Amino acid sequence: MTDQLEVTSGDEPFAMTGNTRVPTPRYYDPSFAVLENERLWSRTWQMACRLEEIPSPGDYVEYTICDQSLIVVRVDRDTIRAYHNACRHRGTELAKGSGSFRGGQIACPFHGWRWNLDGTNSFVYGVEGFAPEPPADLCLPQAQVDTWGACVWVNLDPAAPPLLETLDPMPSLLDPLGIDQMRVVWWKAVTLEANWKLAMEAFIEGYHIMASHPQLTQGEGEEYDPNALAYSVHQNGHSSYVSRPGAQRHHRRQVDYLDEVESLIESSRLLCDGLEAMTLPRDLHVIETLRRRPVGENTSLGSELVGAIYEHAKNAGIPLPRLAPDALARWGGVFFVFPHYFVLPQYGNALTYRFRPVHGEPERCLLELWSITIPGSGEDHGRPAMQGPFAPDDREHWPAIPLQDFSNITRQQRGVHNQTVPATRISHTYEVGIANLHQEVDRYLAQPLSRPT
Ligand code: FES
Ligand SMILES: [Fe+2]
Repeated sequence: MTDQLEVTSGDEPFAMTGNTRVPTPRYYDPSFAVLENERLWSRTWQMACRLEEIPSPGDYVEYTICDQSLIVVRVDRDTIRAYHNACRHRGTELAKGSGSFRGGQIACPFHGWRWNLDGTNSFVYGVEGFAPEPPADLCLPQAQVDTWGACVWVNLDPAAPPLLETLDPMPSLLDPLGIDQMRVVWWKAVTLEANWKLAMEAFIEGYHIMASHPQLTQGEGEEYDPNALAYSVHQNGHSSYVSRPGAQRHHRRQVDYLDEVESLIESSRLLCDGLEAMTLPRDLHVIETLRRRPVGENTSLGSELVGAIYEHAKNAGIPLPRLAPDALARWGGVFFVFPHYFVLPQYGNALTYRFRPVHGEPERCLLELWSITIPGSGEDHGRPAMQGPFAPDDREHWPAIPLQDFSNITRQQRGVHNQTVPATRISHTYEVGIANLHQEVDRYLAQPLSRPT
């Protein structure tokens, strides 16, 4: 699908002119960040919160992007709205963080004006002292809002195309895995001294695994094959990679099989330890049962593992969807949803990420991670709360793999200022998703603003 990569006109500052170089000022130039704020973040669909953060009417979450703030509110069981977080009197922010609007009223703390959950104005203190206004002018202005993947998505642009059109084709890849049934196990944040795009790039490619995460190469070291992963770019800036099909070995001898079981247990334990994401303790337990599970001739570890995972799900009341082979192949893959969201599915679980720039600081970003899972019967994960932000070198809160990624990201951010690096060099194979991301950014930057006056 690489034929969908177009080269932009190059009129915008530091524009991409191909898919093998990224001009480095894109990662630190303040005027580039201002342009992104005005032309990208004001117009793209963004994951604003998880649905389980606002389970009941009146529950709200503030979503901020650059200098804009929205209040995502559950109005009733079927209705969610996103209001601009500014009072219709003199602009005061109406809500901070998250919580519930008591009595179904959104109240301004400054002079006490109030709104119903549906955004209509319910009270103006001393109304006779104000010139009469059409009631519609006192309603809270709304941003576009929709849901997908158990998350609320918002868009500041009233003219933006519908969410599902913009996400295409990612829902078709991820919906079969049951991500809308998953609930939060934990949610943690880290502030990184890096541009948001540069930080995301460390997760758009698996090419860094050999050097950065040698513990994941199962003793293959430099023999770890970079072509073991198959990269795809999709329309709308999205991209993904999965293990290349056909890598499964079939075993004639039980002894080879048991060796492979042991190395799967070892690598799963490395992924699970201290992270509790993608491979949860319950899955590790299942993987360990492969030691005792009788296997037939010519079986593969993959098919035995899938069998054991489904057997456990059935016993634990986990409604793990039945998957066709092409969907099963997405377990262990990485799915980037433009502009700032990632899904890493594995078994009935996923690790998801969201990146946001820190306003006015092109070289800082906030990364949040959610470990999510399809709960078993009777399991209630409740309303999630964010932990952190923790420092990127906090060994108490981050296990080895994220620490390795965070350390690379901050080093790279410093390195791209070097006078010998006017552009980074991008593989047209392993790093094709990075070029795709930047080219989609440029498509937004090339569209002049048409904000209503
Ligand atoms: S600024 Fe909100 S009531 Fe005055
Ligand atoms: Fe990594």
